[in-house]
Amino acid sequence: MSRDMPKDPSGKPMWYGRRRTHKLRPGRQRLVDDLLPRLLIADPAKDAPITLDPGFGPPDRELRLEIGFGAGEHLSGEAAASPNVDFIGCEPFINGVAALLADVERLDLKNIRVFDDDVRLLLGRLPENTVSVVYILFPDPWPKARHNRRRIFQYETLDMLARIARDGALLQFASDHMDYAAWALAEVRRHPDWVWTARGPADWRNPPEGWVSTRYEAKAVRKGDKPAYLAFRRRARGQAG
Ligand SMILES: C[S@@+](CC[C@H](N)C(=O)[O-])C[C@H]1O[C@@H](n2cnc3c(N)ncnc32)[C@H](O)[C@@H]1O
Repeated sequence: MSRDMPKDPSGKPMWYGRRRTHKLRPGRQRLVDDLLPRLLIADPAKDAPITLDPGFGPPDRELRLEIGFGAGEHLSGEAAASPNVDFIGCEPFINGVAALLADVERLDLKNIRVFDDDVRLLLGRLPENTVSVVYILFPDPWPKARHNRRRIFQYETLDMLARIARDGALLQFASDHMDYAAWALAEVRRHPDWVWTARGPADWRNPPEGWVSTRYEAKAVRKGDKPAYLAFRRRARGQAG
């Protein structure tokens, strides 16, 4: 895990988070050494298209993607609740990946693959028209105006997601930063392929049925914050926006 931060063509870092905070405990390091290589969906250092393993994802099974899964509570909870659905989890923070691996082992989950780097190194390589649900939950808010463009939820990401999303796919976003929620709505409003599904306040003030909470969400709720849960649908190809 000594890879450098990925850079865009102008030399700016693509991902601004931390890869590691503290040394992994020996049990977690063993999972990273032994289990992670078996679950990796692709090598971040390469840019070749990704071919899904036979039996993983479409055409036989639904495929979902979680971007920035943190310590993986939502991802492992969803995967355990839906063993007939396959999941790709993306997270560059190795301590979080190790926490997910502990859940994968403990719950004996067979339906998770991992990409341990910046999601933008993944999205362009996944096959078109394959993903049914994308989760972006409590992403880093980058609240200072001069940092807003670092937000993972932005027009360019919506473009990349529209390519891999199936017609009618769900994009589930949640945040306790109302400024970021407003930003997400504005980005979707100017994008031709995505539409906000809410019919009234209850649809975005409450988590969807059967929701599995995340660590950041729990922290925000303990502080008394009320997160926004925004669900977007990918329009059918050929349907005017
Ligand atoms: C605030 S945390 C939220 C984690 C988790 N979703 C939760 O709700 O507890 C945001 C996460 O997104 C990850 N992240 C940030 N930029 C990313 C990127 N470009 N690609 C993938 N993950 C990213 C960070 O490493 C971090 O774990």
